[in-house]
Amino acid sequence: MTVRIPDGLLVLETKADVKVWRQAQRAAGHTIGFVPTMGYLHEGHLSLIRMATERSEVVLASIFVNPTQFAPNEDLDAYPRDIEGDLRKARSAGCAAVFLPSVSEMYSEDAQTSIHAGALAKGLCGESRPSHFSGVCTVVAKLLNIVGCDLAVFGQKDYQQLAIIRRMVQDLDIPVEILAGPIVRESDGLALSSRNAYLSKEHRREALSLSEGLAQARSAWQKGERSAGTLRQAVADVIKTRPSAEIDYIQVVDAVSLEPIEVDCAGDALIALAVRFGATRLIDNTVLEV
Ligand code: PAJ
Repeated sequence: MTVRIPDGLLVLETKADVKVWRQAQRAAGHTIGFVPTMGYLHEGHLSLIRMATERSEVVLASIFVNPTQFAPNEDLDAYPRDIEGDLRKARSAGCAAVFLPSVSEMYSEDAQTSIHAGALAKGLCGESRPSHFSGVCTVVAKLLNIVGCDLAVFGQKDYQQLAIIRRMVQDLDIPVEILAGPIVRESDGLALSSRNAYLSKEHRREALSLSEGLAQARSAWQKGERSAGTLRQAVADVIKTRPSAEIDYIQVVDAVSLEPIEVDCAGDALIALAVRFGATRLIDNTVLEV
């Protein structure tokens, strides 16, 4: 067994350990909640863990920096890691167990099968990260199978990822309920992200323009503005005042299909964006609900 027990938290390193744990939970009649993460936990992750504890009797989080969702030029090796801190935080948020697999535990070298994400994965982040969501779907499907949970919680911070996972669960009849948690932000508005750790002081200051731009557009929308072009421009106008900001995309899309809205927003819309500050790519979004 590769189970260590710091502070009452079970650390499960193999799929076999998770199976033993799940069987014990099932034998005790417990429902199981699951929160998948790539670690370097912050309040956003912890809010999802707390949400899972409210809806299930025991909660397991996974910490796995999934190589198949990173392109060769991306930040896989540099991705921030702090296992000791993560275990402490996961415990205090209410996790009973953490699944902490190695890459070889998750992926056999001769694996042949992966999940293809469809139309929802084409636009927004899918455009500049074409293989990203296939990697996300493959690892999330594997994790859901390994954990065998009743419910799994994902953040609206990654709105497109959430939509794609909901769709995968529906299309593949995966027997799990998917819950969504709202975006957790710093007090000044910056959406929490493990990648914020890369930002210099200057970039951190400039990155505030993302939430500021979204807030501008939201307030225009609340006053009745429905032109997708005007809403998009309101966000861009704020972000473009920051010298280091390189816009990957700012888009106004249908909140369900994620198709770009060509003229006016009729139903629920999403403004989503990805912007680089130096080497750090940040995403944020806001939902405009009718
Ligand atoms: P990661 O970026 O670690 O995020 C794990 C979960 O935390 C995701 O559901 C994400 O949407 C949520 N999250 C991140 N920042 C948040 C914030 N500020 N407020 C609320 N929720 C937030 O997303 C991944 O990992 C991976 O792609 C994963 C799903 C684990 C598959 O590898």
